[in-house]
Amino acid sequence: MHDDALDHYTQDAPVEVVRSGYDALSWRYRDDDADAEQYKPWIAALLDALDPGSQVVDLGCGCGVPVARDVTTAGHLVTGVDVSEVQIRRARQLVPDATFICADATTVRLPSGSYDAAVALYSLIHLPLSAQPALLRAIAGWLVVDGLLLLSAGWDAWTGSETGWLGGDATMWWSHADVATYRRWLGEAGFQVVTEEFVPEGSSGHSLFWARRAPLHQ
Ligand SMILES: C[S@@+](CC[C@H](N)C(=O)[O-])C[C@H]1O[C@@H](n2cnc3c(N)ncnc32)[C@H](O)[C@@H]1O
Repeated sequence: MHDDALDHYTQDAPVEVVRSGYDALSWRYRDDDADAEQYKPWIAALLDALDPGSQVVDLGCGCGVPVARDVTTAGHLVTGVDVSEVQIRRARQLVPDATFICADATTVRLPSGSYDAAVALYSLIHLPLSAQPALLRAIAGWLVVDGLLLLSAGWDAWTGSETGWLGGDATMWWSHADVATYRRWLGEAGFQVVTEEFVPEGSSGHSLFWARRAPLHQ
């Protein structure tokens, strides 16, 4: 799939801030053996929904812990994509039975109609808003009909950066639309939202969507 919005993103976006930020902060964000308590019910629900030997793509997979690790351990075939070389290097060591691609999710080439599920936890929100609907359309195209999407996104609209994030030296950058906008974008991308919830964090939080690729997606 080719999308002009993604071309625009690759030309002038803060992808380098995000990439170099995660290169610098990979371990501060997640230890090698992190349990990531918050993720446990999400991973359990994902595993419940998958048939044996499913193909799962994890966009913005980080170091592969816990999602790629736990989904691979359960016998599924995971492809992780991340723009940070450090995250991908760690993921290859920590989850040797999964496949990892170091690439920008907005330009990576993946096979159409090939994945039973897609996961994008806390990664879409590092893209400029102009690129996010196009990536959702691309994800719909990579999924099989009725394929499952687990997505964390914004709750309130906010775009900004933080220097010294996680107590490190790097700057990080995010861009959220509000939850109603994500609901609309998912529908426009060819998804049927199954559930959505608010995941609190600090004084605000994120949305968490479960959605399925609708049968009539083109
Ligand atoms: C907050 S971390 C979340 C990692 C993992 N999904 C998790 O929940 O543990 C966001 C990840 O998205 C990756 N990322 C951000 N923008 C990306 C892009 N354009 N393409 C691919 N990966 C990206 C970052 O490098 C980082 O590893």
